Amino acid sequence: MRRIAVCPGSFDPVTLGHLDIITRASQLFDKVIVLISTNANKKQASFTATERMMMIADATEHLDNVVIDILDGLLVDYVKRVQAVAIVKGLRAVSDFEYEFQMALTNKALYAGAETVFLTTSQENMYLSSSVVKQIAYFGGDISRFVPACIQEAIQKRLTQQGGDKFEY
Ligand code: PNS
Repeated sequence: MRRIAVCPGSFDPVTLGHLDIITRASQLFDKVIVLISTNANKKQASFTATERMMMIADATEHLDNVVIDILDGLLVDYVKRVQAVAIVKGLRAVSDFEYEFQMALTNKALYAGAETVFLTTSQENMYLSSSVVKQIAYFGGDISRFVPACIQEAIQKRLTQQGGDKFEY
């Protein structure tokens, strides 16, 4: 039996922290589905789901057992449909814990087969997030330490105050 894991998130945009978790999950499971999902608590995304998908595709091109999908619905329904054995999430600082714990328990309550596996974020990504990347890019700062090199320019072009309409994905 192939063991499938789903790695859900907003990925707006994908960061080196996400990529680290996706890479490590790809070593633990036969197949990893990176699932671009809607977080109803977050306001308007900076990138469309298709743009986010293309950025993740570029950043994970070297990982043979990783695929990307888009979900506009409940995570547990997707997990059930593809018969995934795990939902993989990265856990950063203590501040993530309560939110992630609540989501894991809620998903489990909605579908008993939804097992959440937490991977500890690598130390260098402890405080990295998509919103931090967006803040830096917006003010023209250097995001090269935080996002995959292949998508850096596209992110910068979209988010920088001067170049908002030049995004190329
Ligand atoms: O990267 P994020 O925004 O922290 O990811 C949160 C996400 C998108 C994984 C979560 O909001 C989610 O699973 N959305 C899909 C809808 C759903 O199933 N919500 C109930 C989760 S308790």
